[in-house]
Amino acid sequence: MENGQDEIYKPSAEFSSNAHVKSLDDYKKLYARSIEHPQAFWSEISSEFHWQKEWDTLSKYNYDLSRGSISIEWFIGGETNVCYNALDRQIEMGHGSRTAFHWVGNDEGETKDYTFSDMFNMVCQMANVLKDCGVKKGDPVAIYLPMVIQLPVAMLACARIGAIHSVIFGGFSSESLAGRILDSKCKASCVLGTAGMWQPDAVQVIVTADGVMRGPKMIKLIEIVREAFDMCKSDGHQLDHVLISQRLPEDQSPLGELKNLPHQYKLLKDLCDKASNTCPVEWMKSEDPLFMLYTSGSTGKPKGVLHTTAGYMIWSYTTFKYTFDYRPGDIFFCTADCGWITGHSYITYGPMLNGATQVLFEGIPTHPTNSRFWEICEQYKVTQFYTAPTAIRALMRFGDEPVQRCNLSSLKVLGSVGEPINSEAWKWYHTVVGSSKCPIVDTWWQTETGGHMITPLPGATPLKPGSATFPMFGVVPAVLDAEGREITETECEGYLAIKQPWPGQMRTVFGDHERFEKTYFELYDAENNLICNHFYITGDGCRRDKDGYYWLTGRVDDVINVSGHRIGTAEVESKLDEHVDCTEAAVVGYPHPVKGEGIYAYVILKEGVEPCDRIRQELKNKVRKEIGAFAQPDIIHWAPGLPKTRSGKIMRRILRKIAAGQTMVDDLGDVSTLADPSVVESLIASKADAA
Ligand code: WT7
Repeated sequence: MENGQDEIYKPSAEFSSNAHVKSLDDYKKLYARSIEHPQAFWSEISSEFHWQKEWDTLSKYNYDLSRGSISIEWFIGGETNVCYNALDRQIEMGHGSRTAFHWVGNDEGETKDYTFSDMFNMVCQMANVLKDCGVKKGDPVAIYLPMVIQLPVAMLACARIGAIHSVIFGGFSSESLAGRILDSKCKASCVLGTAGMWQPDAVQVIVTADGVMRGPKMIKLIEIVREAFDMCKSDGHQLDHVLISQRLPEDQSPLGELKNLPHQYKLLKDLCDKASNTCPVEWMKSEDPLFMLYTSGSTGKPKGVLHTTAGYMIWSYTTFKYTFDYRPGDIFFCTADCGWITGHSYITYGPMLNGATQVLFEGIPTHPTNSRFWEICEQYKVTQFYTAPTAIRALMRFGDEPVQRCNLSSLKVLGSVGEPINSEAWKWYHTVVGSSKCPIVDTWWQTETGGHMITPLPGATPLKPGSATFPMFGVVPAVLDAEGREITETECEGYLAIKQPWPGQMRTVFGDHERFEKTYFELYDAENNLICNHFYITGDGCRRDKDGYYWLTGRVDDVINVSGHRIGTAEVESKLDEHVDCTEAAVVGYPHPVKGEGIYAYVILKEGVEPCDRIRQELKNKVRKEIGAFAQPDIIHWAPGLPKTRSGKIMRRILRKIAAGQTMVDDLGDVSTLADPSVVESLIASKADAA
């Protein structure tokens, strides 16, 4: 991360003069206004929205756990609807015939365009279908879809009628899917019971598809849904409606094979075709829930991160507009899946609220050729392109030719998200993809933050490759030292925290507010002493350089970032532990040239069990099948033991170093507190068999 820090890339004078924010000074002034006069700053932005009822108080909060429960409210007293602002209002402003999405399918030549009016009609139809199923304001709706147009349509349909969508990425296994459905159903009553919205007998709906082609591979989603359906059932929870969007051609669809599907399974198209294409919106209070999205943490099961209506709407809108310097006429292409927060904020919500035209891509960057992204950019004259460092590193390996084969002269801004970007990838992206003329916005944020938190503004910020640069409007970062104190010197390194709420911040963990407070507002030191409880704790480490630039250095907790996907080590460990031959497992991340981090699992086998390739494969497959392909361990190391403290805590610091290739005990740091220091030598010695 250190390299590249002294090189500075400035936006061209031409770019800056046309940008929303034209210079670093302008950014500083706007930023200062957002902090010193938040009322004026956010009022101006909020006046660009339709409010059924104007808000009266900008925000109220308690950010200090020692003074009581954490609470965060924005735009208090207001009533609005996010779907109304994304569709009805765009049409009122005359944008009905503007293309909202150029949908591009997995196979070449499979494309379809949808205008804002088309989206309006489809969203209203789907909203009516959901209502006919019995879905009411405040009910959770699960969405498990590939990147078909029905995905943003279903999200917006939920938003229209006040249902809380829970999108589950199409790469998750049936068990992960069932776990999320059950969690949202079981907890709905405690979250919303008091608001009087959720009924214990609320219907449970999932919107899904028969399957999808991902590159050359067919994924039969409906089979996974069926397994999840049965798992829910054996847990005593009946899914009332499984609405299926048919994506695969009739003769290949698994629907035919699954004869005698229970009556809950219905084809979405049949229902939508019959439904009216108008649907009144449900006016939502500013703090009414908009959606939940499950994400992994260092402990326990994935958490349902809950975002609410007005704050998220304004945050996704504002960050999209400024970070990408969006202008009417631009064509935006975000390669993320709507199953992750990036697709929520920078496909479904931020761009649509800005009336932007986008590319919605179903496929993968290497199918049918390694030029796929660039061909799409050329064909649609994409102006802003947003992807993850892992994709850049993967494509970089095929050389410059697949890029240079395409005319990318329309590109103006390149974005990066999900993990730190190394300077080699940054420079390739800048020179080869962007022909050295496009600013790169390296956007640091999280599922929990709703939108960009630390990011360059392309017309204003002189860039340093690998640095996410400066805070977004309204964001007040702090770097904390090992004792939890804020470091006041500009140049420093420590834990990244945020000192006050911003509109797009998550409000709670669905159904478990205490877990929200513990996870995000308590910081502990190595001896388990509480060292800070009055800031939002990000879980990331960072360095601030002498010029005030922020450099994100990765997670400081037990979360691994694999290709920009967040995976809790505890989740993987518990799957490995369940294997009949396994006594104990410990999982850490290690540097991986393409994925950023790979998954390295130390496995202790039961007494008498000989390590072999069969068990290795079984362990890998088990995680793949039970969590998802992206969570499969890259390496399994048959461990003779694990380095533990006398109190039994695994010292992951040592495991991380051995996984990263350290072979000298002296380089592993202090091992004197280990119950059995000799385990370290034997771990290093047994690494040769790791694979
Ligand atoms: C974690 C959040 C943000 C949407 C996609 C991932 C890491 C994210 C950056 C960046 C360095 C980054 C952090 C963060 N991260 N963006 N530009 N530079 N690290 O969302 O799954 O909630 O993961 O991703 O570690 O905490 P997520």
